[in-house]
Amino acid sequence: MQKPPVFVTRRIPTSALERLSKEVNIDLWEEEIPPPKGVLIQRSQGKKGLLALLTDPIDAEVIESCKTTVKVISQMAVGYDNIDVNAASRAGIPVGNTPGVLTDATADFTWALLLAIGRRVVEADKQVRDGIWKPWGPEILLGAEINGSTLGIVGFGRIGQAVARRAAGFGMQIHYYDLSRYPEAEKDTNATYLEFDELLQTSDFITLHASLTDKTYHLFDREAFKKMKKGIYLINASRGAIIDPQALVWALQNGIVAGAALDVFEPEPIPGNHVLLGMDNVIITPHIASASVQTRLKMAMMAVDNLLAGIKGINLPYCVNPQVYDGK
Ligand code: GLV
Repeated sequence: MQKPPVFVTRRIPTSALERLSKEVNIDLWEEEIPPPKGVLIQRSQGKKGLLALLTDPIDAEVIESCKTTVKVISQMAVGYDNIDVNAASRAGIPVGNTPGVLTDATADFTWALLLAIGRRVVEADKQVRDGIWKPWGPEILLGAEINGSTLGIVGFGRIGQAVARRAAGFGMQIHYYDLSRYPEAEKDTNATYLEFDELLQTSDFITLHASLTDKTYHLFDREAFKKMKKGIYLINASRGAIIDPQALVWALQNGIVAGAALDVFEPEPIPGNHVLLGMDNVIITPHIASASVQTRLKMAMMAVDNLLAGIKGINLPYCVNPQVYDGK
């Protein structure tokens, strides 16, 4: 019997591809850049499943074009704002994601960013590489005191909570804001819930771990920055579009934000001539918070689990629109 055809939109870890290839016929997009939308549409035709990445715009048009054959869209990421899940649900297509396995790697990387921006690690390294090693001096490269400062976490799901657990080791006071309250996690992490404005007013460091939705799009606009303490540090390892980039530039230029460490940006990749790239108090990494060898393998395996389940007509182990199974 012929194996069912699937479109895999980028090379994933080899052992995951090998596992997949035992059960399906893989059409693999081999380039390093994501397939453009036209290619997505073209290569999805006649496929039984799609294994997608967060860089693929799986919008209503793509879904409409392949809905007669595609039985599952499996995303190798926890976030899925690139997929029109409503359109998938209307077409009866389950969408899978990879929650949980990347929580610790992402929280660890958030701390790498927080420490690096607060203590000017990248700027200091750059100075040395540029041949500037000023002799030890009482006021050279002074950064922020992390111990004893206040951390505001926006988005207190799995990753936000894992960031909070790590903050205890740094003796920080922890505040969080989310649309939901998490009483158990509040006890575990010693975090206090605050309204959004209060969190802005009281935090020394603010770190973002919310999903991108209509409610969080440009949540950090100029009005939000105006409410912050002067000299805060901002870290974003969630989705770029939660911050209005122009408002961030304004806040940096006006000293409201003393430093920003961004693993995500709107748009990605950041344009090469962007003003933020010329600022020493900004760190930008290319969306790598979950990029440890072990975590990326786990994510790929989970995406394979979802894809294979969907093709076999079994409920996806990790499904973001389980309502597609109602009445089945
Ligand atoms: C990474 O950003 C993810 O959503 O998995």
